[in-house]
Amino acid sequence: MRRLFVAGNWKMNTLAESATSLGSDLAKQYPESIEKVELLVCPPFPYLAAVGSAVDGSAIQLGAQNAYFESPGAFTGEVAVEMLLDVGSEWVILGHSERRHVLGETDETINQKVLACLSKGLKVILCVGELLSEREAGQTESVLDGQMEGGLAGLDVESLQNLAIAYEPVWAIGTGVTATEEQADSAHAHLRNWLTNRYNSDVAQDMRILYGGSVKPGNAGSLMSLPNVDGALVGGASLQFDSFSAIIDAAVETTKS
Ligand code: 13P
Repeated sequence: MRRLFVAGNWKMNTLAESATSLGSDLAKQYPESIEKVELLVCPPFPYLAAVGSAVDGSAIQLGAQNAYFESPGAFTGEVAVEMLLDVGSEWVILGHSERRHVLGETDETINQKVLACLSKGLKVILCVGELLSEREAGQTESVLDGQMEGGLAGLDVESLQNLAIAYEPVWAIGTGVTATEEQADSAHAHLRNWLTNRYNSDVAQDMRILYGGSVKPGNAGSLMSLPNVDGALVGGASLQFDSFSAIIDAAVETTKS
């Protein structure tokens, strides 16, 4: 049985006060690790340390939204894996659609980051997902295949234990349009099948594949009860205590058929 995983991607939101109070409210609500559901928040870099202190000892883990693949050195403006670990991050989101499509990251760069993070002990949520134009052109599966092949190139089977996938259709991110249950489960099943073919069925069965894209309290339960959906990567709704805790509570109550 895969443990569900609910992660909040705060993106470029919050200031010091709102970030730490959201972290401490969540830590108060979820003081102890929940067997059924793993929890994570990913604040912006400047607030990682403060939010890390706020959630320390609670069920809420700390993650970053990006990392650079080089070791510390002359890379102005970048943040090293060593620094993220140093401030208590356990996870990092890589390959998010905003980094691919707004900041121009390629599968090659994402792959360098995946390899660097995993080799240094930072767990990775690798995001994949198609544009609306790609879905309409019937290219969803080939786009996902390319992002998986590129992002996971050169990765050994053991490292995959420290990785989760997030399927985030770009057209569903921040739009209020959620993938239908059929669209989500079918993309997740395709990704799991890709993992079986590329690695083996144990890897595929153990891999958590999160859904992201307009997850809200009202749709979280039905999405997470789908057979191939193992949690949620939440953007906008993770910025308010009430909506994020409602999504976490929906995960706790989820039963898989
Ligand atoms: P929204 O939940 O705001 O659609 O964002 C999803 C996302 O991009 C999470 O990484």
